[in-house]
Amino acid sequence: MTDSSVTTRAVIVSAKGAARWLAGHPWIYRTDIYDESRDAPAVVTVTDRRGRHLGQALYSPSSEIRLRLLTTGREPIDATWWTDRIAAAARRRAGIPATAYRVVHGEADGLPSLVVDRYGPYVVAQLLSAGLEQVRADVLDGIGAALAPEGILLRNDTTVRRHEGLPLEVVLARGTVPDTVSMEEAGVRYLAAPRTGQKTGAFLDQRENRVLVGEHTGAGRALDLFTYHGSFALHLARRAGEVVAVDSSAEALARGRENAALNELTNITWREANAFDLLRDLVRREELFDTIVLDPPAFAKSKQSVPRALAGYKEINLRAMRLVAPGGVLFTCSCSYHVSRAVFLDMLGDAARDAGRRLQLLAVTGASRDHPELLNVPETGYLKGALLRAVD
Ligand SMILES: C[S@@+](CC[C@H](N)C(=O)[O-])C[C@H]1O[C@@H](n2cnc3c(N)ncnc32)[C@H](O)[C@@H]1O
Repeated sequence: MTDSSVTTRAVIVSAKGAARWLAGHPWIYRTDIYDESRDAPAVVTVTDRRGRHLGQALYSPSSEIRLRLLTTGREPIDATWWTDRIAAAARRRAGIPATAYRVVHGEADGLPSLVVDRYGPYVVAQLLSAGLEQVRADVLDGIGAALAPEGILLRNDTTVRRHEGLPLEVVLARGTVPDTVSMEEAGVRYLAAPRTGQKTGAFLDQRENRVLVGEHTGAGRALDLFTYHGSFALHLARRAGEVVAVDSSAEALARGRENAALNELTNITWREANAFDLLRDLVRREELFDTIVLDPPAFAKSKQSVPRALAGYKEINLRAMRLVAPGGVLFTCSCSYHVSRAVFLDMLGDAARDAGRRLQLLAVTGASRDHPELLNVPETGYLKGALLRAVD
């Protein structure tokens, strides 16, 4: 099926805009558009001012990111095109040892503004630009043909859609998707909530980090701060004597309890608390843990908020460092795109000095391999983690 909105018409871009594409970044901003027609279709042909063909792009009439490059070719962008690209992305994930993983990571997979997550036989997708929204039928056909899921749920309730003038909504687009889906990673089973859970139901980007931290978990006490539905806690609980799992969301913790039961783990205590307050309290009581995980939400939502965010990161890291038992490990991370890996590591160095702890840097990590970072597109990388061991 071909969507009727896909009739190409030229948008003309400046030399600076064209240079961005040549450098491998798929976005062209409003300020680099030389000429556009306001009623341009969802997919437009793009040329430079001399009329030279540059490619075809998704068009977003009211967004600062006006064009997102799909192809430098002239081929029809129809359901078959989407099928081929999604199938190629799926082939790149062959052999991932989990039942839930990201199949399409937007720009990094050459499919800008599209997220496709697989949860066993179900797909949860996000259409994050106005152009993509208009070719929804072709994209859904492409997902259907490439992945043959039993159902496709659109979690189009993420706030970035507001920049595109799009409504926030959760829509069952094809087949059936249950309220809870089961997933498995490295022998740990979870129930995730694709309709009501955070992101598309689970933080799939931390999968490999959860396995890594599980392997470094000691036999003593463990603390999982910002646990969500017990994601790290379940891995820790397989080795630790006891685990304290903390989150501010009662709904996430309720699923955490169910997940613990599903894995027959009885050594996790679930605490609904503000992690900032709890950390202060634990330090005051001079408690110690052999394994600590710190996985807060993004504190820096914009460039302007970075200084404040860094103060928050330093506060929780400094306290967590005081709580690590000698020989114990701390896995700490940030999913703020605006806080670079270098700045994050600098902040950790400051916190270690202020805490007076000697910490070995055992590993610096990113997101799991199904969320690849495209070097040309820094926006595709946001998650950074550090595995530290206390050696004093
Ligand atoms: C990045 S997610 C954690 C993901 C989880 N570690 C995983 O691997 O699936 C951040 C979590 O922090 C929780 N949260 C946000 N602010 C909090 C706070 N001040 N105290 C405790 N939990 C908080 C959210 O409910 C969310 O579950």
